[in-house]
Amino acid sequence: MKHLLSRVALASLLACGMIMVCTSAQAEDAAATFKAKCAMCHGANGEGGKMGTRNFASADIQSQTDAQLAETISKGKPPKMPSYAGKLSDAQIKDLAAYVKTLGKK
Ligand code: HEC
Repeated sequence: MKHLLSRVALASLLACGMIMVCTSAQAEDAAATFKAKCAMCHGANGEGGKMGTRNFASADIQSQTDAQLAETISKGKPPKMPSYAGKLSDAQIKDLAAYVKTLGKK
């Protein structure tokens, strides 16, 4: 039993280091992910304007639930908003949806 436990611990440690996505780090990563993957179209603070994106602080966006925003991020919005399903984990997408909401609260 002891042997098994330490193997499980080691495996999760390795997976964490290799994929570089630890669950605990994901919330903090939302801002970094947004900067790296979303800001070029949505603006550094989600202010929008580029490629016809809307301001994330607007009522149109703020009135949507986290789940609705997560679905848009996951599926994309043709023709310009890319789909992130398969590129980001569900947890990352969920964190990004929550992050989008915080961008409207200043
Ligand atoms: C290539 C440019 C581009 C990139 C990169 C991009 N988006 Fe978008 N996004 C758009 C466009 C264009 C729309 C559609 C705007 C509209 O129809 O109002 C959109 C729509 C959205 C919406 C829905 C807003 C609404 O109008 O309901 C959300 C949420 C969103 N993007 C989040 C993200 C996140 C999070 C990322 C990064 C993981 C991202 N986007 C990356 C261009 C982009």
